[in-house]
Amino acid sequence: MREQSGFSPAGPIPAGLSRSSLHDALQDPVLESISFLNEIMDRYPQSISFAPGAPNAGLFEHLDLNAYLERYTAYLREQRGMTRAQVAKHLYQYGPSQGQINALLAQALRMDERIDVADDAIVVTVGCQEALLLILRALCTGPDSLLAVVDPCFAGIAGAARVLDVPMVAINETSDGIDFDQLEQACRAARAAGRRVRALYVAPDYSNPSGTILSLNARERLLALAERADFLVLEDNAYGFTATPEAALPTLKSLDRATRVIYLGTCAKICLPGVRVGFAVADQIVTDAQGRTRLLAQELAALKSMVTVNTSPICQAIVGGMLLEHGGSMRALANDKGALYRRNLGHLLDALDRHLPPEAAQRLNVSWNRPAGGFFVRMRLPVRADAALLDDCARRYGVLWTPMSFFHLGHAGDHELRLSCSYLTPQQIDEGVARLARFLHDPRVTGHAA
Ligand SMILES: Cc1ncc(COP(=O)(O)O)c(C=O)c1O
Repeated sequence: MREQSGFSPAGPIPAGLSRSSLHDALQDPVLESISFLNEIMDRYPQSISFAPGAPNAGLFEHLDLNAYLERYTAYLREQRGMTRAQVAKHLYQYGPSQGQINALLAQALRMDERIDVADDAIVVTVGCQEALLLILRALCTGPDSLLAVVDPCFAGIAGAARVLDVPMVAINETSDGIDFDQLEQACRAARAAGRRVRALYVAPDYSNPSGTILSLNARERLLALAERADFLVLEDNAYGFTATPEAALPTLKSLDRATRVIYLGTCAKICLPGVRVGFAVADQIVTDAQGRTRLLAQELAALKSMVTVNTSPICQAIVGGMLLEHGGSMRALANDKGALYRRNLGHLLDALDRHLPPEAAQRLNVSWNRPAGGFFVRMRLPVRADAALLDDCARRYGVLWTPMSFFHLGHAGDHELRLSCSYLTPQQIDEGVARLARFLHDPRVTGHAA
């Protein structure tokens, strides 16, 4: 006989929840897209996948995390004068919400990017993703605070906005950056409706997903518009390290004379994603009702104390050790990684040229951009690059990519796909492009005979 428990004479009533009773963010099409991609990779494990933007596994082969921890603890003892007990506390206990490697990050930003900010203008976060969430939570106070997003955009920013119910306005990307007229118009329209564009999210250096770079002129124009229309710029610099020193443009933050820019960094690509360390530089002055001031980074740290409390001290120590091992410079730390990704990107573009020479590309009505850095190439097809086409491509030709529509806020990008070069070897890139070219030559796909 069934034992009775709880208040129901018939026994416990399981809490069967309907999906629609949960937050709308769980219905976000981005989540479906991510699980679809994972599922398709599992279904066709022999495929060559241009889908993941994850770092190259070869970079981790000789990582010695203990050595980095030792390097950092030696620094704490020798340069920060800590005792053994203080070092143990620093590493093993809860830590300050604002972070522990802020001084090292501030030094690296001065050295590498000519971004000159105080240590407490930085908050160290659990990946860049947490920084995005904290910033949106702090800036966007209700349905009248809008986030403008350069579209297509990194799924992480759209996801964070949806989790927090922050309304977004899509601003089209152009070949050298942003549709400024549209942005200005969006700010004006928001004001006319009693709302406000609080911030614009942009990745000016080889954006994810399209590899676009903002020209110097566009950077200056954006900063001037941010001042005029009174919004902040969220500058995500995840891929700037892949630029050659000659091609690198100054970051928006280094050009920012009016503290309009919040700069976002991630250690996922230049150290390792497993540490989950990122940071935000937020040197904007916040004044309270009594006229007392703090920096926005300190406010973000206060929010963080209610979210993840603090970023793992051990993970910060690994990043700190890596920086110290490279003379305190993020650029020096990123040098070999940047070179590897440029090599892979070069292989990808060469392979596309070889397997889809201009006459073939023209006949098939296929084209792609040619970024000089970053992980991504964006390709345009004469047919819809959707989930069904991807499934067909994986099943019959053993190659995977990401539909660009996954990165658009609206219904754009449905004839485009994203190819990522970061995760593969040069041999896999070549074979993958050969398969992709065979797929595109298939008359069933593009409607053209080979
Ligand atoms: C544009 C952009 N920002 C940030 C990140 C990394 O964020 P996190 O530090 O949370 O891993 C990525 C990774 O894919 C990215 O593409």
